[in-house]
Formats: sequence, C-alpha cells, structure tokens
Amino acid sequence: RAIVVKIQGYFDAWQALLLKPDIFFKISWLCRKYEKSVEELKEEMEILVEKKRNRISVAEKLEDSMDFTTELILAEKRGDLTRENVNQCVLEMLIAAPDTMSVSVFFMLFLIAKHPLVEEAIMKEIQTVVGERDIRIDDMQKLKVVESFIYESMRYQPVVDLVMRKALEDDVIDGYPVKKGTNIILNIGRMHRLEFFPKPNEFTLENFARNVPYRYFQPFGFGPRACAGKYIAMVMMKVTLVTLLRSFHVQTLQGRCVEKMQKKNDLSLHPDETSDLLGMIFIPRNSDKCLDH
Ligand code: HEM
Repeated sequence: RAIVVKIQGYFDAWQALLLKPDIFFKISWLCRKYEKSVEELKEEMEILVEKKRNRISVAEKLEDSMDFTTELILAEKRGDLTRENVNQCVLEMLIAAPDTMSVSVFFMLFLIAKHPLVEEAIMKEIQTVVGERDIRIDDMQKLKVVESFIYESMRYQPVVDLVMRKALEDDVIDGYPVKKGTNIILNIGRMHRLEFFPKPNEFTLENFARNVPYRYFQPFGFGPRACAGKYIAMVMMKVTLVTLLRSFHVQTLQGRCVEKMQKKNDLSLHPDETSDLLGMIFIPRNSDKCLDH
C-alpha cells in the first residue's frame, strides 16, 4: 500500500508538470510538494532494485530467473545503461502497467455484463479455440472475437484518452502554426468516436468487423513513444478474460453500467473509487453459487 500511495503522488506530480503553465514552476513552494513525491518514489525504486542487485550477485544460475529488471541490471553491468536508467525503466513499468491493465479489464467486465450477445459470441469462441485445456500462446491469434471485444472496449471506454507531446521545433500542423515548446494534447478518446467507425457512439463489435480504421484507433498511442507494453498488454488481457469468463458469468450491482459510472479523468480515465456500486458478482458457470466482490 505504501508503494501505491507513492505511485499516486508521482502521478499527481507528473500531471502538474504536464498540465500546469510554466509560471507555476517558478513558485518554489508550490513545486516542493511535487518534487518530494517524485523523490519518494525514486527512493523506493532504488531500494527495490538494490535488493534485486544483491540477489543477482549471489545467484548461482541466472538463466532460470531472468526477468525485466535482471536484464536491465545485466545491461548496466555491461556498461550499456546507467544505474539511474535502470531505476527509471523499472519505475516507468511500475506506473504504466498495472493501473492501465486493471482498469481496462474492469471496464471490460462491466461492458460484458451489459452485452449478453457479445458474451455468448466470446464463450462460443473460447469453447472452439481453447476448449477445456489451459490457454496457450498459439491461441492468441485465433481469439478474434475476444480481440474485437478488447478493441471495442478500449475504443468505447478508454483508460487513456489523451496523449501528449511537446513541439521540439516551430512547426505547422494541418495549417496551424505551432511554436517550439508548445504542449500538444491529442484527444484520442474523441478521435475514437468519429465517423470512421460504423457506429461510433454505440458499443458493438460491428465497429471492428471489417476495415478497421487503425489510423484513427490508437489506444496505445503512436510513434516512438507509443506504449512499450502494447503487445504484452493484449496477451495479458486475452488470458485474463478467457480465464475469468470461462469460469464465471459476471453481473454488476443493481445493473450498473460504464456509461453511468462516476469517473475521474487525470492522466488516465478511471472509476471514482469513492462512489458506490463498483462491485461485481461472479457467478460460477454450471453452478448456483455466487461470489460477491
Ligand atoms: C490496456 C493496457 C494499456 C494501455 C491502454 C496503455 C496505454 C498507453 C498509452 C496511451 C501510452 C502513451 C503513449 C503515447 O504517448 O503515445 C502508454 C505508455 C507506456 N506504456 Fe502503456 N498501456 C497499457 C499497458 C501497459 C503495460 C502492460 C505496460 C508494461 C508492460 C506498459 C508500459 C508502458 C510504458 C513503459 C509507456 C511509456 C513509453 C514511453 O514513454 O516511451 N503499458 N501506454
């Protein structure tokens, strides 16, 4: 929990840095709070990565326990990365991955609870592609309905609906002069609701049935700074959904839906956790027992 609070503080600081006007950062007492939040999470990372460094230095065999942080530490040992690079990469993974993933899956479960025909199509596909065995990596490409459902959910109810860039040079974009240093906010949430989709304001798999306008569908951002986890995120979401849905039918409390859910929109769009009725009921398939979460 202590780390989660520090991540929250880091997010607040990051948001201020991206959104507040430059004059804000000339007022030192206003900045101090944010600098402290950034430092606290960095220190936490230093401690965690240091523990990992110690474990690696006494490990007899590394091949069996290679992971992202170990790879980074080995790159540091080879001189390809600095200590600061390693800590920052781990920090960014920590803040970029769990929240986006978990909130996306949360919205998806809410959506599936309200769309029984979509659920039926997904269940049919799971039965045909995976059957009763464990899910495997070669199933990923075959889960086309699940994939369309994930895309349509991210289009209709995105977790990240803005991406930002800073103009490095004076530029002209679509006829608009843009001065060097200008912060540019790209409203991908709005872009996903344009006429390029057959039914932009409806949740329907028809929107991804054919001719997907990928140019206008960018839930993971785009260019060299696009989401570093976009492929693994798709795999994780497919595996999570298949594993959950093959065992449980999901219901929301009092028929709640994403459209009426109270949300907060800072750097990401997420449910307002202080509001009621965000829980869900998981009903085991082929059984009358309910798990109320
Ligand atoms: C549904 C889940 C996810 C969504 C919707 C999502 C979305 C995004 C978006 C929109 C960006 C900004 C891209 C831009 O500015 O163009 C981003 C950045 C990033 N994401 Fe994700 N992400 C997800 C999951 C993940 C996961 C699982 C990981 C790690 C395994 C990850 C790692 C990152 C990193 C490291 C960045 C920063 C990249 C950079 O600045 O170069 N994300 N993500």
